[in-house]
Amino acid sequence: MRTIDLPPYAPTLIESTRAIGYSLESAISDIIDNSIAASAQNVDIFFYPIGEAYIAILDNGSGMNTEQIDLAMQYGSRNPLELRDKTDLGRFGLGLKTASLSQCRTLTVISKQGETVEARRWDIDHVAKTGQWSLIALDTDEAQDIPHFNDLCAYESGTLIVWQNLDRLKAGEINFEETLGRKIDGVREHISLVFHRYLSGETGIKRLKININNEKVTPFDPFLPGKSQRPMDDEIIRIQGEKIIVRPYILPHISKMTAEEIKHLGGKDGLRKQQGFYVYRNKRLLVWGTWFRMMRKGDLSKLARIQVDIPNTLDDLWTLDIKKSSALPPAEVRKNLELIIEKIADKSKRTWEFRGKKEIDDSKVHIWNRMKAAKGGFYYEINRDHPLLEQVREYPESASNLIENILRMIESGLPLNQLYIDLNNDEQIKNDQAFTDKEILKMLRDVLAVQSSQDAKIRFLEALETIEPYVNYPSVVKAVKKELGI
Ligand SMILES: Nc1ncnc2c1ncn2[C@@H]1O[C@H](COP(=O)(O)OP(=O)(O)OP(=O)(O)O)[C@@H](O)[C@H]1O
Ligand SMILES: [Mg+2]
Repeated sequence: MRTIDLPPYAPTLIESTRAIGYSLESAISDIIDNSIAASAQNVDIFFYPIGEAYIAILDNGSGMNTEQIDLAMQYGSRNPLELRDKTDLGRFGLGLKTASLSQCRTLTVISKQGETVEARRWDIDHVAKTGQWSLIALDTDEAQDIPHFNDLCAYESGTLIVWQNLDRLKAGEINFEETLGRKIDGVREHISLVFHRYLSGETGIKRLKININNEKVTPFDPFLPGKSQRPMDDEIIRIQGEKIIVRPYILPHISKMTAEEIKHLGGKDGLRKQQGFYVYRNKRLLVWGTWFRMMRKGDLSKLARIQVDIPNTLDDLWTLDIKKSSALPPAEVRKNLELIIEKIADKSKRTWEFRGKKEIDDSKVHIWNRMKAAKGGFYYEINRDHPLLEQVREYPESASNLIENILRMIESGLPLNQLYIDLNNDEQIKNDQAFTDKEILKMLRDVLAVQSSQDAKIRFLEALETIEPYVNYPSVVKAVKKELGI
């Protein structure tokens, strides 16, 4: 047997690792992770979209000396299996390079420790030309021309990362300046959520200040503390001698949230999508708004959010990915989480129904809900959880908004006074008998036609036994079932 030394070909490997799948916000977050690991208290992000556009990220962390900066620029600078400091947010020895070069072709890193200032650069075009892993070392004169160099020099120690030749961000954009503006808003929102525990300086964490173009990023806590309920004590799961802390929250009813809070939580419709686990690795939000397929994202659990704190020592069990944007709970943890969600989903359901308590018996799915208003009295609303309306959620936004508006119009336009008079005069009102068997049959066929699969059709038909108006037409339902061979 013999071995062959086969190092990767630099131009190809650098070009392919650009496609790991970073978004602008996840790439910037990976750079901020490094600043936090270097104990920075300030991170400044600058977007400069005009002319020789660039993005710069400056921190006042510990900085790097000559040896450290060379190592930092190396792909795979540290082994993922290595034990890391408890507060380190890194794992793969790749983020600085892969995150940066996913967005640009030229990455310059300048770091300062006291009087020592070192500058290094990966330039994809230079690597392509030389065919080597040829890292560029800039001398002081060259480094001085890099934007924000003077800001770095004002710190005792720190690191400046500059992305130039923003080819990926510019690709396909006609008006780069304008679109970058929108992207910056996205980055701000992402950072305010992902690093909220650092930004608010939670107990045990040194507060971190982040500015984007000199404007402070404010933390956004997705659990709305102070307004939410904590339906049970923290649950601690022990695994391999490490602790995983689980803290469930039930958000307040939407009527108790400010417009700003609703917007941050993804809007009225987004609330439903954002329910689930919020997994923090070393207090940095990693994955959120998922039940890891342990349950469906239903309307009734839309207020449930469960904070899960994991340490970096269990990275291999959670199968952390390079971008730090996905992780899956190991089987032992899953079992415990399943028990917790059962309890919590039930509580969330009750909070959701609080605003108007349903007054009609729950054994059938009604078209109308009679609701008890919080301030006394009753009102009627069309049941948005009716299976027919649930389908509307899958429609494009413009169509589902239109339907929602029509429903609201019907609700608010109920001729209640006239109904009252008619009923008092013993008039017979026959709305619920309005369909003939033939009409119901046609309705049913229409609805079934848009179901995606035979399976979906069967599920839908099986549910019909308890759904208005079909519940009143058992013979028609039976006939349709027969047509489908059920
Ligand atoms: N802002 C910074 N301040 C000080 N040192 C830094 C900074 N950014 C990077 N480094 C050093 O460079 C090394 C490489 O960073 P890189 O992000 O590529 O890998 P990592 O953080 O070790 O792991 P991961 O790939 O998971 O991010 C870090 O381990 C750290 O020592
Ligand atoms: Mg890193």
